[in-house]
Amino acid sequence: MTHSDTFAVNASVSNTPSLTHSQYAALKVKDAICDCFRRKTGERPSVNVQSPDLGVHLFIRNNRATISIDVSGGSMHKRGYRTASVEAPMQETLAAAVIRLSGWDGERPLLDPMCGSGTLLCEAAMSYCRIPAGFLRKEWGFTRLPDFDSNRWKKVKTSAEAAMRPLPAGLISGSDLNRDAVRATRTNLNNLPGCKDRIRLSEKNVFDIPAVGNTAIVVNPPYGVRLGDRESAEKLMKEFGDFLKQRCTGCTAYIYAGDRQLLKKVGLKPEWKKELNNGGLEGILGKIDLYASPKPQPKNV
Ligand SMILES: C[S@@+](CC[C@H](N)C(=O)[O-])C[C@H]1O[C@@H](n2cnc3c(N)ncnc32)[C@H](O)[C@@H]1O
Repeated sequence: MTHSDTFAVNASVSNTPSLTHSQYAALKVKDAICDCFRRKTGERPSVNVQSPDLGVHLFIRNNRATISIDVSGGSMHKRGYRTASVEAPMQETLAAAVIRLSGWDGERPLLDPMCGSGTLLCEAAMSYCRIPAGFLRKEWGFTRLPDFDSNRWKKVKTSAEAAMRPLPAGLISGSDLNRDAVRATRTNLNNLPGCKDRIRLSEKNVFDIPAVGNTAIVVNPPYGVRLGDRESAEKLMKEFGDFLKQRCTGCTAYIYAGDRQLLKKVGLKPEWKKELNNGGLEGILGKIDLYASPKPQPKNV
């Protein structure tokens, strides 16, 4: 970086009683960088928060500071496809983790019957189509570093893009009872290459779905924290459990709930549970197998 380049400092401070304001901490690092340049060159670089030449990140936790250079150019969870949203969308990286943990590989259909802004559907599509997480990203921090090798970057991009494949129509589907949610989901999916009009979407109450067979059901029902109240969230979970039992034999459900107690309301024993946070909120993912025939028992040998 030279004095004619711009920079921005972004800070995150936690568990450090002597320093509670991250803005103040960021200001101190900014001043230090400017002072250093002024001492050496007599001039100081300018700050540009929107599009800096160099992003500097300050992370302070338990009285220990780490200063690093932002090579991605903003948080990687911002994939760029979510141009529309309704209330309580999942963080993209959490949705990606849910899809990864479900082990879904496109061998059978995938359905999200309470799709909201469609984050789980978008991440499932990205996973199947092998769309790199940063595919829609226009700017990367590392391209502004002095040792950036543009030919190598082109090669990396070309080989990742050559591995991409289109989504078979109907493999992924989603629904929500909120019309705006379905609209937002459609907008977001259409931002992904090879996905436009390939995902079946409908405005529907989950309980109006007649039957589902041999499908991975991936769902994030309302938490009862941000959307509606706790009582109605628990009631919905119980009814959703009945829906799974009665109409989804042969499927596997992956339910991301706000907490263990809410997940329990489904009334079905999960094969496994995994704790996963959603942008600061606690949450838990449970896998529930809905066997078509009684669960196979180990044979006596
Ligand atoms: C927590 S949000 C889902 C957020 C979504 N995973 C995302 O990332 O955008 C829960 C969604 O469930 C929908 N919903 C609630 N009750 C429903 C029902 N009975 N049938 C269908 N959708 C329902 C709500 O409209 C809301 O969009």
